[in-house]
Formats: sequence, C-alpha cells, structure tokens
Amino acid sequence: MADQMNEKLLERDTITMPVIDRHYQMIGTKKATEIIDRAMNLAREEIPKGAVATYIPELSKMDPHQLGICLYPLKGDKICLGDYNVRFTMQSVSKVVMLIVALEVCGLKPVFRKVGMEPSGEAFDSLVELDVSDSKPYNPLINSGALAVCGLLLPEVSFQDMLRYTRNICSDPGIELNEEVFDSEMKTCSRNRSIAYLLQSKGIITTDVEDTLRFYTKMCSMNVTAESLANLGKKLANDGVCNLDGKRFMSSRTARIVKTLMLTCGMYDGSGTFAIKVGIPTKSGVGGGLLSVSDKRAGIGVFGPALDAQGNSIAGCKLLREISNELRLNLFYDPEWNKEEADDTVLKEMAAKSVM
Ligand code: DON
Repeated sequence: MADQMNEKLLERDTITMPVIDRHYQMIGTKKATEIIDRAMNLAREEIPKGAVATYIPELSKMDPHQLGICLYPLKGDKICLGDYNVRFTMQSVSKVVMLIVALEVCGLKPVFRKVGMEPSGEAFDSLVELDVSDSKPYNPLINSGALAVCGLLLPEVSFQDMLRYTRNICSDPGIELNEEVFDSEMKTCSRNRSIAYLLQSKGIITTDVEDTLRFYTKMCSMNVTAESLANLGKKLANDGVCNLDGKRFMSSRTARIVKTLMLTCGMYDGSGTFAIKVGIPTKSGVGGGLLSVSDKRAGIGVFGPALDAQGNSIAGCKLLREISNELRLNLFYDPEWNKEEADDTVLKEMAAKSVM
C-alpha cells in the first residue's frame, strides 16, 4: 500500500507553475527579514494574553514564550527567525495532510459524502450541531470532520504511510511520532471519543472507533517545526508541486480545495475575522503551529504555543497579520486597505475582543 500510495502521490508529471512575485521580490530578502523581525517583536507582546493548551497534559509543559517563523518563497531566499527549528506537535495542522491524502486516495465524492465544506462557527471540538441535526460534520478541518476523514483513510493507508508522506511533503525526514503527547492525549480524549462514537451511530464512521481515534491522535502527535510547515505550505502555494525538483504531491484540484477550506474554516470560529485581517489561508493547531499559504508566492510556518480563546497561536496570529500587511500578502491586497482600517471602529472593537 505504501509503495502504491507514494507512486500515486509522488511520481506524477512535473509541471512548472508560473510564479507571481510582487512586493516581496521587489524589496529583497534583507528588507523582508527586517520587516519580519520587527513583526516578531510586536507579536511577542501578545504572548502574556494567551496560554499553552492544558487539556492535553503533555502540552502544558511547553514554553509559552517561544516564537518562530519560516517564510519560504517560491522565488527568493528562505527566511527563518526565532524558534523556527524547535519541534512541536502538529495537532490540527495535520488535518490538512489527512484531507490531502483522503482527496487523493479516496476521491472527492467519497470525502464530501462524509463531511461538508462549510465553516462551523463553533469550537474545534464541538459536537452540539452534530447531534441535533442529521447532517454530517461541517467541514474536514474541525475534529468531527477530521475523524470522519480518518474513518475513510483507515482501510486505505497505515499511520506509517501517512508519516512517510508527511515527511516527504514537509521535506523533513526528522518528523517522528511524539509518543508522550500521543499517550497523554489518548488518556484525556473523551470529547473526541464521544464525537467518534456519535459519528459511528450516524453511520459516518464504519471503521473501528478506537482504531480511528488512535489513527487521528497519532496524526496530531507528529513532531514538526515551523520550517517543515513552510515546506508543506510552499507545495500548496505551488499547486501541489515542489518548485525545486518538480515532484507533484497532489493534484491541482486537491491543492485548490485544501487552500479554500483553510481560508474559510482553518481558524475555527475565528476564521472570518482572520480572513478579513490577515487574508492568507491558514490552519492552526493547539501545539502552537500555524501553516499558511501565500498562493503562488510562499509557504509560511509559524510556531508560538501560547494560544487565544479559539485555540490559535496568539502571537502567531499577530505575526501573520503584521507580515501580511507589510509584505502585501493578503489575498485581496489593496493599497487603500490600511488607511480604511485605521478609520474603522468596528474592526477596532473586534480586534479588542479577539487576538489580532
Ligand atoms: O483533537 C484534538 O483536540 C487535538 N489533537 C487537536 C486540536 C487542535 O489542534 C485544535 N486547533 N487549534
């Protein structure tokens, strides 16, 4: 199975994507590094307002003061600052990998028969709507949706296959399962267990619930770095193809679907605000990771384990907001935007409530 999967996923025809390089290319690496460095200092000020995740006991041991970023453009030099090479568990960022592989191996229709493609407006581990309606999980980037995706993946691929694929797409052979975090979460995952049994009762999961839960939790417990996430983001930015050797990791269609869902659902009930303020498709994890895709331009990985109320990295969100403005990475970049925002009291009020 592993070989078949690798063949299917990795040995497609090479294609060269046109690269749209705008402001970043014009200002050059030195100036971009200075901008990101300044943004890091601003972002650090947010850390005291957040806290590391404690519902997985092992995660509570993380140092909340850590902050790192890797920005890897398709054209130009990689910029790595702060704790960019510190390992942390991927957590919900792995939902992106699960979705990619499910779309590639199981197909579009089987995936979206099990999960929707709408934002949930609810916490990542919510099961409220799942029970009261006969609907499927809102989308594959919340826990219920990802567990449903795992139910599809389990008969097709092993965790070792997924680990190998993750190492390849992240260009990071050092990614391992963090056994301590895995064991810790398995002991305290009663909410996910409830979700998984509820999914089974609705016929959405037909695999063994405990095996499905273990597979999902192992995926969350893979140890990555901000640099690994930037490598993954760069392949998504380049429509699924590594710009260095032309290897294809997913179809163009899969890349497009994944990026769209990252924009609309990647930050849970903070997705809309984040899209307005940052405008870069991003997926967060409670380990403090943020995976961002500046389409056709760069992959960005961020690590900052102090989290906001939605479970997103508090300093990481601020950092992305700053660099989105300064490097003009917002999908809908408009030179008038900053000026308008300065006058907008609604946005200011929202910023006071949220992290950005
Ligand atoms: O399922 C969980 O609760 C965790 N393993 C992952 C949650 C998560 O990362 C939410 N993201 N911000």
